[in-house]
Amino acid sequence: MKKLTMTLTGKTKSHINREIYGHFSEHLGRCIYNGIYVGEDSSIPNTNGVRNDIIKALKDIRIPVLRWPGGCFADEYHWKDGIGDKSQRKKMINTNWGHVTEDNSFGTHEFMDLCEELECEPYVAGNLGSGTVQELAEWVEYMTFDGVSPMAELRRKNGREKPWHLKYLGIGNENWGCGGCMRPEYYADEYRRYQTFCKNYSGNELYKVACGPNSSDYNWTEVLMSQLGEWHTKAISLHYYTVPSGDWSKKGDAVDFDTEEYYKTINATLFMDELIRKHDEIMTAHDPEHKIGLIVDEWGCWFDVEKGTNPGFLYQQNTMRDAIVAAINLNIFNEHSDRVVMANIAQAVNVLQAVILTEGEKMVLTPTYYVFKMYREHQGAELLESSLENAQTGMDGCKIPAVSHSASVNKNGDVLVTFSNCSLDEDYEIEIDGAGAKSVSGEILTAEIHAYNGFDGAENVAPKAYDGFKQDGGKLTVVLPKCSVVSLTLKK
Ligand code: AHR
Repeated sequence: MKKLTMTLTGKTKSHINREIYGHFSEHLGRCIYNGIYVGEDSSIPNTNGVRNDIIKALKDIRIPVLRWPGGCFADEYHWKDGIGDKSQRKKMINTNWGHVTEDNSFGTHEFMDLCEELECEPYVAGNLGSGTVQELAEWVEYMTFDGVSPMAELRRKNGREKPWHLKYLGIGNENWGCGGCMRPEYYADEYRRYQTFCKNYSGNELYKVACGPNSSDYNWTEVLMSQLGEWHTKAISLHYYTVPSGDWSKKGDAVDFDTEEYYKTINATLFMDELIRKHDEIMTAHDPEHKIGLIVDEWGCWFDVEKGTNPGFLYQQNTMRDAIVAAINLNIFNEHSDRVVMANIAQAVNVLQAVILTEGEKMVLTPTYYVFKMYREHQGAELLESSLENAQTGMDGCKIPAVSHSASVNKNGDVLVTFSNCSLDEDYEIEIDGAGAKSVSGEILTAEIHAYNGFDGAENVAPKAYDGFKQDGGKLTVVLPKCSVVSLTLKK
């Protein structure tokens, strides 16, 4: 077995915002309807129409923030269609996702109440592409104003006396594409105009997020950073999806893939690190004090839709490969937590790299879900300085680092070290210096790379207690089996 060494210096580097472990829910396929939301009259146990099993599952991973209503859907969404008597709500076409009927039965009240139930921050994506400034300004007033005003009265008439708390407000989504095909210069001007009229009411303070670049569009970041100021922009977003070959016309199957496709997937996901570093460099040139954050508000694997399902619904299975991808990305976000203030995996339920899948009344927790669970103590912790002498794995033409890792210390002094070993054939023994602890416990998620949790009830990929480590004074040696995600908790 190959031996690698890692050092924990004991120094802290940056704060890991809880929101890095965030989620995204769009009116797309079965994410909201027949996923999160089944309606009050459903035989599936629910609270105000939201499945109780999903509420519990999301609480168990301490969901910190939920983004809604899109995605591309956001720039076609007119919030007034989704309030008031449900039988009177407008029915519209979801033009982005399958041209299905959107009956607006899940709207502002349903979403904001859900976030309260989940005890997470709502992150509302506003419509800049096809809406108006007045529409967005009124939405903020409707949600957050406590006094006498037309929108506050309308909210009260619809059954909600007190305003909700709303921190995160996105001003548009992918305005370089589905949100209006804009140039960055034009978007920056539009952003400045829209945000001006989104006010802070009744003690509620908005954290305004500008639509950032598509993947490696560094010019978009450059223009935004030179046009926007920290007094009206708290963060810009970044979207990057892991597509195995980078070819969107042949994304590949979610379950049926070969070794080459697997390593290409990991290689594609590792690009997230370079992307963040390069966008950060541009941001730092304009904002050396890191006052403007980077929010990766869409990330995850994007494969071909499952055969026999609606192509517009983006439904895909989730295997051990997805778990490795999630582990690598979350480690990357932790490492860049001096700039990355939030990340939202796409998407929460039944869409793309979902943490939860449903079929009728059945619900499945995916391998990706379990990575979020194993990593949950990183939320709100301090990133620890660490270094690792890594090994290379992969195949000819696609050599990649085998081990990904991250370490943090929480307010009780407990250290969480998370690893993934993406090699399909090598185990590694890691000797960690500076890891003295009173007690150590471990968890492991490992399975054959194609394994997934189906609707037959078998949990083929679920974390188990792990004792593949030994302590010797300040040294800790841990074995990382091939194709695994491992977490170690060190109690001081
Ligand atoms: O997550 C699916 C889609 O991907 C979103 O609607 C859009 O923002 C992105 O292109």
